[in-house]
Amino acid sequence: MPSALVTGATGILGREIVMALGQDKQTWPTVYALSRSQKLNWPENVKQQQLDLTASAQEMAKELDNVKPEYIFFTAYLAKDSEEEATKVNGAMLENFLEALKITGASKNVKRVILTTGAKQYGVHFGVPKQPMEESDRWLADSNRPPNFYYKQQQLLAEQGKQQGWDWVVTYPNDVIGVAKGNFMNLATSLGIYCAVTKEMGKPLEFPGSPSFYTLFDCFTYSRLHAKFNLWAALEQSPRVSNQAFNVVNGDIESWQNMWPKTADKFGLKIPERMFTPEEEDGKMGENGSVMELMENPPLSEFAAERGLKGSKFAKQSRVEQKIDLVRWSQRSDVKAAWDRLAKREGLDQDAFEKATWGFLGFVFGRAYNIVISMNKARKAGWTGHQDTWDSLSEAFDELVGEKVLPAFTPTRRKRSSVMGTEADTTVSILRGRDR
Ligand SMILES: NC(=O)c1ccc[n+]([C@@H]2O[C@H](COP(=O)([O-])OP(=O)(O)OC[C@H]3O[C@@H](n4cnc5c(N)ncnc54)[C@H](OP(=O)(O)O)[C@@H]3O)[C@@H](O)[C@H]2O)c1
Repeated sequence: MPSALVTGATGILGREIVMALGQDKQTWPTVYALSRSQKLNWPENVKQQQLDLTASAQEMAKELDNVKPEYIFFTAYLAKDSEEEATKVNGAMLENFLEALKITGASKNVKRVILTTGAKQYGVHFGVPKQPMEESDRWLADSNRPPNFYYKQQQLLAEQGKQQGWDWVVTYPNDVIGVAKGNFMNLATSLGIYCAVTKEMGKPLEFPGSPSFYTLFDCFTYSRLHAKFNLWAALEQSPRVSNQAFNVVNGDIESWQNMWPKTADKFGLKIPERMFTPEEEDGKMGENGSVMELMENPPLSEFAAERGLKGSKFAKQSRVEQKIDLVRWSQRSDVKAAWDRLAKREGLDQDAFEKATWGFLGFVFGRAYNIVISMNKARKAGWTGHQDTWDSLSEAFDELVGEKVLPAFTPTRRKRSSVMGTEADTTVSILRGRDR
């Protein structure tokens, strides 16, 4: 029976992998869950262990003496202020951890290492990428770009796997929907708190991001679907899976013009009939907003000539536009006062507001370009998983109610009125989980 080890076990992606392994005791009787912080409530086949991955290989080896995993799920991640630093730190965490397993002798038992990275693989943080993004797209090579820690981790994995006789799989999730506390990138928590505070303030739900992006497309990853993919990829013997990297997104394509009204309904809010002013639609954000220009050469510029787009406006510098700059919004005294009031009245986790990732959410909503990611490679390799993105966001909001991060919902239910083609809003009090 295979044994598994998960690093980053308390993270938004790692904890779902631990849960999925924990729920399948027959297949995975022994699961090691590693992180620095305290244990969560794991199933009985999960052994929690505290380990600081920034320690040296020798120090880690002492802690890992009796740990002999066959399958390693590496999801640990430490955010740093610069890409240079992130590359140094996250590269070293993976390298020293693998070295520690060599020191203890555990590496002899390892069969496969599954590394979680993400769509920064395609430079989505630098501007418009080549679309749809495919795993066969060559790695970005413009020497003006900062280093990419995913490249370093993947190179390391391939080298170490060859030397030590195990194989590997890499996943590229994007804009993860899930639940974790105090982590570095958390879309559902930050969005849920934005909605709850907007409601507390008695305002309509304005989309705070880019007017263009509101009508463009994004591909999301539900943390639970990503976990299922990890378990599938660990045991799948096909040569189409071994030593391969895969996009792991839900399999649908979504937009906020589709999900924003649903989000508003879920929280019992209304959206403005006209969300953006003509000036905002032309890219001029008002006094509450912000515009950030990204790198001069977006990723697409590296593919432009061969795709007939050299010098085209479509391969030019991209920007992040926020109608409401979320970092500044989160610092406003009326916003903080509304959260404090709400948190006190509803018995919520007071720290959740400060722990929300406003800069990240602002970036996710502000990118004024499509993020379309292909799932063809995984499907051809036999993966059949799929997830409706709205369902995953709705489920994550429900879970956050249970975690006391969000107040219980009073959603607006849109119902067809007796007059054909018109809608009437009906507010229905509903308890957590019942509207799934
Ligand atoms: N979140 C997203 O939206 C998203 C999207 C695309 C790609 N990704 C990528 O997915 C990967 C995983 O990210 P994530 O968002 O799941 O991370 P996360 O939620 O921030 O969790 C990070 C995990 O790493 C652990 N960790 C951090 N420093 C550690 C250390 N020194 N020693 C041991 N454990 C440590 C943390 O546990 P402790 O704090 O308890 O140590 C936590 O369990 C990253 O490569 C990330 O770039 C994330």
